[in-house]
Amino acid sequence: MSKHKRKFIGVFDSGFGGINILRGIVKELPAYDYLYLGDTARAPYGTRSPEVVYEFTKQAVDFMFANNCELIIFACNTASSDALRKIQQEYLPKYYPNKKVLGVLIPAAEEAIIKTKNKKIGVIATEGTVCSGAFARELMKINPKIKVFQNPCPLLVPIVEAGEQNSKATKIILENYLKPIKNRGADTLILGCTHYGILENQIRKIIGSGMAIISEAKVVPKKLKDYLKRHAAIEKKISKNRIVRFFSTDLTDKFILLGSKFFGRKIKAQKISLK
Ligand code: DGL
Repeated sequence: MSKHKRKFIGVFDSGFGGINILRGIVKELPAYDYLYLGDTARAPYGTRSPEVVYEFTKQAVDFMFANNCELIIFACNTASSDALRKIQQEYLPKYYPNKKVLGVLIPAAEEAIIKTKNKKIGVIATEGTVCSGAFARELMKINPKIKVFQNPCPLLVPIVEAGEQNSKATKIILENYLKPIKNRGADTLILGCTHYGILENQIRKIIGSGMAIISEAKVVPKKLKDYLKRHAAIEKKISKNRIVRFFSTDLTDKFILLGSKFFGRKIKAQKISLK
């Protein structure tokens, strides 16, 4: 198949954390062609205002549709929280009426509702995601009786990026972040950030075996598979050559190193700029 005929599933993140989610998607759905974009030059998004996250995300969407994405998944929770609804409701109808953009919040929320027995769900995420209230909104849309306890964890992204997940300091930081959620009796915990899946074992040790953990890298691929089954017209358009292309707005050794670690095999990436 010639290059211009390729039609990709796009996966977007503020940086390389989303590669962890892409890895799960490729494992579940290996046949398709994928285009990953990390806006590393402007990451992190988690501490930015919703307006800025929306502007950056719109630019990413423009790039990905211009480069033959048929469908885009926002692997980034902050972009899913601050930009997804507006992009779906305002931007796509105006500029891309035939294209689709999906996020990671609804799949995680749906899974959490299935798992919880006592209707108390904890969410850990970036400040941006927590402040947006998007997880609470989506959870309560499915079941208004759900109690949601959120805690922003600003130190966890830098910890994962520094490879410090097993340090003593990380254990103390995690204990502090998880304590309020544990104390309020939540029986289910959403890891509402691309990076937190990397800390799942450490989190499990702190919360014990009684609390269900919702990890997006496990949930999102299954939900995407189901979505493609239900949307045959979109599924048919996506090319199936098992190609995975990586683009990044800043190309550092760290992107390649951590990206390869998150993806589970060596990646190559191309630098682009977003306008
Ligand atoms: N990708 C972001 C998220 O899932 C975390 C990193 C950032 O703050 O940009 O919210």
